[in-house]
Amino acid sequence: MTTTNTTRFTGRTVLVTGAGSGIGRAVALAFAAEGAQVVVAGRRREPLDETVRLIEDRGGKALAVTADVSRAEDAEALVRAAVDLPRSRLRSSGGTPIGSLDVAVNNAGVFRGGQPLADLPEADWREQLDVNVTGVFLALRAEIRRMRTQPSGGAIVNVSSTFGAHTSPAGAAAYSATKAAVTALSRSAAADHIRDGVRINVVSPGATATPMSLRRGETEADRAERARATLPLGRISATEEVAAAVLHLASDAAASTVGTDLVVDGGGSL
Ligand SMILES: NC(=O)c1ccc[n+]([C@@H]2O[C@H](COP(=O)([O-])OP(=O)(O)OC[C@H]3O[C@@H](n4cnc5c(N)ncnc54)[C@H](OP(=O)(O)O)[C@@H]3O)[C@@H](O)[C@H]2O)c1
Repeated sequence: MTTTNTTRFTGRTVLVTGAGSGIGRAVALAFAAEGAQVVVAGRRREPLDETVRLIEDRGGKALAVTADVSRAEDAEALVRAAVDLPRSRLRSSGGTPIGSLDVAVNNAGVFRGGQPLADLPEADWREQLDVNVTGVFLALRAEIRRMRTQPSGGAIVNVSSTFGAHTSPAGAAAYSATKAAVTALSRSAAADHIRDGVRINVVSPGATATPMSLRRGETEADRAERARATLPLGRISATEEVAAAVLHLASDAAASTVGTDLVVDGGGSL
């Protein structure tokens, strides 16, 4: 029997950080395609506006909100914006408040690496900690504080990485440390808040088709060749494949999945 899931998120409000590019944009598009109104967040306005345009062109609803997730006030404002902005701000909506934050995807992240640890500038270490760990903590805290007041609770998916909890590649010590922290933070937070009706899980992508997985000086063709030679699947993941895992964990079908870390890496960490 063929089943279709195109309405899994109808009427739900979804917040996606880092949604102006790469995996975050694919996640935002996928939620919108399944009926959600999506708040897309990041620091730069232009890429967010482009994500909104892509969603609206496909008949979906989205709103861009600029925020730096490493700042507590921005993370809190982001959640308030998702909950409080009148529907009239969303094209073809009425005038009532959105009212709830049903799903949040904490995807914003940075990679500063490529060199051995001894050559890593302290500023790069601090930036990755600020965005990848403190940013997830601040967003998570603001989202949980809202979701636990809602009768329907909420679902949160944090985007980590195979680097850290699953593999330990050279040239990525700081990044790997931050991503291992995301996985650990998420699992403990999941235990803390499942009884509040807030369900938290992790998706850990391996190499995915965005500029972040390109090594210094590498072209996309070089990357494809590297993947053919080294990954069990023989290719890197598409952003849509990572998005599919995020949507599954956020959906009602995963209602009893709590604190899991779903690896999407073509077998790269086996
Ligand atoms: N691509 C891969 O191979 C891969 C593998 C494993 C895990 N990941 C993870 O997947 C996530 C998405 O990565 P990607 O490959 O899609 O990279 P990307 O295209 O660079 O996306 C990262 C997004 O995060 C946003 N961002 C960065 N710092 C931010 C901040 N302080 N506040 C708010 N937004 C911020 C960026 O927008 P602004 O600059 O406008 O803020 C950007 O849109 C990251 O967490 C990454 O670590 C990627």
